[in-house]
Amino acid sequence: MINSDMLSFGKERSAIRELFEKGKELKQKYGAENVYDFSIGNPSILPPRELSDTVKNLFMVSKIVDVKGKNGVDVEIESPNPNYQYRKLSTNDLHGYTSAQGDEEVRGAVANYINEKYSVSLDKNLIYMTCGAAAGLAITLKALISDPNDEIIVFAPYFPEYKVFIENAGGKCVPCIPNFNNFYPDLIDLEEIVNENTRAVIINSPNNPTGVVLDDKIVTKISEILDKKQKEFNHPIYLISDEPYRELIYNDNKPFTFFTKFYDNSIINYSFSKVVSIPGERIGYVVVNPKAENAIDLYYAICGAGRASGYVCAPSLFQFIIPHIINKKSDFSIYKNNVKYLYEELSNIGYECIYPDGAFYLFVKALCPDDKEFSKKALDYNLLIVPSTSFGVSGYFRISYCVKEDVIKNSIVKFKELYNYYKNK
Ligand SMILES: Cc1ncc(COP(=O)(O)O)c(C=O)c1O
Repeated sequence: MINSDMLSFGKERSAIRELFEKGKELKQKYGAENVYDFSIGNPSILPPRELSDTVKNLFMVSKIVDVKGKNGVDVEIESPNPNYQYRKLSTNDLHGYTSAQGDEEVRGAVANYINEKYSVSLDKNLIYMTCGAAAGLAITLKALISDPNDEIIVFAPYFPEYKVFIENAGGKCVPCIPNFNNFYPDLIDLEEIVNENTRAVIINSPNNPTGVVLDDKIVTKISEILDKKQKEFNHPIYLISDEPYRELIYNDNKPFTFFTKFYDNSIINYSFSKVVSIPGERIGYVVVNPKAENAIDLYYAICGAGRASGYVCAPSLFQFIIPHIINKKSDFSIYKNNVKYLYEELSNIGYECIYPDGAFYLFVKALCPDDKEFSKKALDYNLLIVPSTSFGVSGYFRISYCVKEDVIKNSIVKFKELYNYYKNK
């Protein structure tokens, strides 16, 4: 027998991945320059140069240990980050296992960086290095869900994999509706849907797919509601802050809200995929707020979920690279220009969307109620855009604008043709 849930997760690929594959097919048929692929959040800009410096240093053999010179080298890392010098590593260290939860010195560097930057007091012993944010979410949810009635609230529109990870962990995904004028969560709905089965709420700011950044005011209100509800139901309701776009904010008036400052029962899930443009390297971390109820047991449960899921020892090489580049980010000015241009051009044509403050997505109103039909029609114009039903709301589509500038520029005429098709229908 094959597990039918896994079979359907595998067979029914996400709409994003489906379009990504379709894009490859269209590019072969029409030439890459004639296809406008806005499907996936794959960064188009270079990682910071300190990344390649570190990689280069790591592989610069400083001393041959094996006198016969066959194998075995010591590795010296010349750190481009003046605040951080690492202990000497051997090649075996670089490619070997670290502790299941990640190398202690790496976790220490992560904790120091966050504590200094956000004035908090996180503990390296409550950090678990992961294969990106996806693995972090999967094991955190596995650690929290223990009964088929357990519910996890997600704020719509939400990253589609949340539902997959929640269901895989054996729980129910319960969406909270947004206010459509600003895509902040509808707090009246939140109050209504939190119940005795609620185990956690996932929050994602800057948001995929809207680019919305939540401000202190709304985060305070969400925290107050959850606090009231956990007292009412007499058990913790954890807030999982999914932050792969934490440093990707364009609006200086909307600084990132660090959630552990607002709510004790919080868990942070971070990834380096987007901020330093390395999604294929699969590196991130989960950190439990030391002030969370049962923080140590919660951390052990996350370690246990990592162990049970086979997510032990995130890629060692990239663990060792992280401390050297932790205070660096890619140059986001291209994304900033892309979104400004795209927003202005689409608005001039007649499309409706709100201006995003962060991430690299634009969430636009579809020109017909059925967003899947709209996304399918867009393929006739070689435009690959993701229908919003995948994110738990209908009637919109998502554009990933982390693409080369000329893809954006050349796509405008296609968006206009698509608009005219619907207006003249
Ligand atoms: C909101 C959100 N969470 C998690 C992830 C997964 O990130 P990673 O590639 O680091 O696993 C993504 C990826 O696009 C995302 O947009």
